[in-house]
Amino acid sequence: MSTVTIIGTGNIGAAVAGIAAKAGAQLQILAREGEKAETVATPLGAASGTIGDELTGDIVVLALPYDAISQVLTAYGDAFDGRTVVDVTNPVDFATFDGLVVPADSSATRIIQEALSGASVVKAFNVNFGATLATGTAGPLPTTVLVAGDSTQAKDAVIALVTAGGLRGVDAGSLKRARELEALGFLQISLAAAEKTPWTGGFALIG
Ligand SMILES: NC(=O)c1ccc[n+]([C@@H]2O[C@H](COP(=O)([O-])OP(=O)(O)OC[C@H]3O[C@@H](n4cnc5c(N)ncnc54)[C@H](OP(=O)(O)O)[C@@H]3O)[C@@H](O)[C@H]2O)c1
Repeated sequence: MSTVTIIGTGNIGAAVAGIAAKAGAQLQILAREGEKAETVATPLGAASGTIGDELTGDIVVLALPYDAISQVLTAYGDAFDGRTVVDVTNPVDFATFDGLVVPADSSATRIIQEALSGASVVKAFNVNFGATLATGTAGPLPTTVLVAGDSTQAKDAVIALVTAGGLRGVDAGSLKRARELEALGFLQISLAAAEKTPWTGGFALIG
């Protein structure tokens, strides 16, 4: 059985918690307010707590805005070492809504991997709107979770979790591909914000 910690209880934290629970994972939900973690955890039979509690998951999902990540990394120090850390962020520049806040030749995932040298960081879930993770469909098509990172073992663990949770997971390549996933995530947000596609739809992978 996989062990999963989810930090953050918003749209994505709650949706990924549902997938992990469906997969039968031993689940821990953490938030800055314990009550919010409990609200998500209790119906799923998961443990809950506050950010700073000891991590119990071999897979840790950072379901947080990009600008909150560094604080959480600092709070945990080397506690991520040896774990698979999942970065779901779309580091959108909300001041301009015209690009990303990370350098064009890098990615949020690379920056997190550089900060967590003892962990295996993967990008996943950033090209899936929360609703499509919860329902398992993007419009009429099955939801696919694209996973990128340099550790095959870490990617396989995330893909196995997603698959056991009822969705399709696809290895999208090395950590370098996180840059393309973040560009795709931003484009998908831009399309939904402009009402060209619904928040229940977006990109799907066929075949
Ligand atoms: N929404 C989507 O469809 C979607 C799709 C793909 C990827 N993403 C990415 O997923 C991430 C989370 O998005 P979301 O839609 O789930 O956001 P959300 O619903 O606003 O939830 C954000 C979560 O992060 C927590 N948080 C915010 N600032 C924090 C801080 N400084 N320290 C600790 N916790 C903090 C919030 O806690 P409080 O409740 O205490 O504020 C909440 O649990 C983002 O990086 C986003 O780009 C979102």
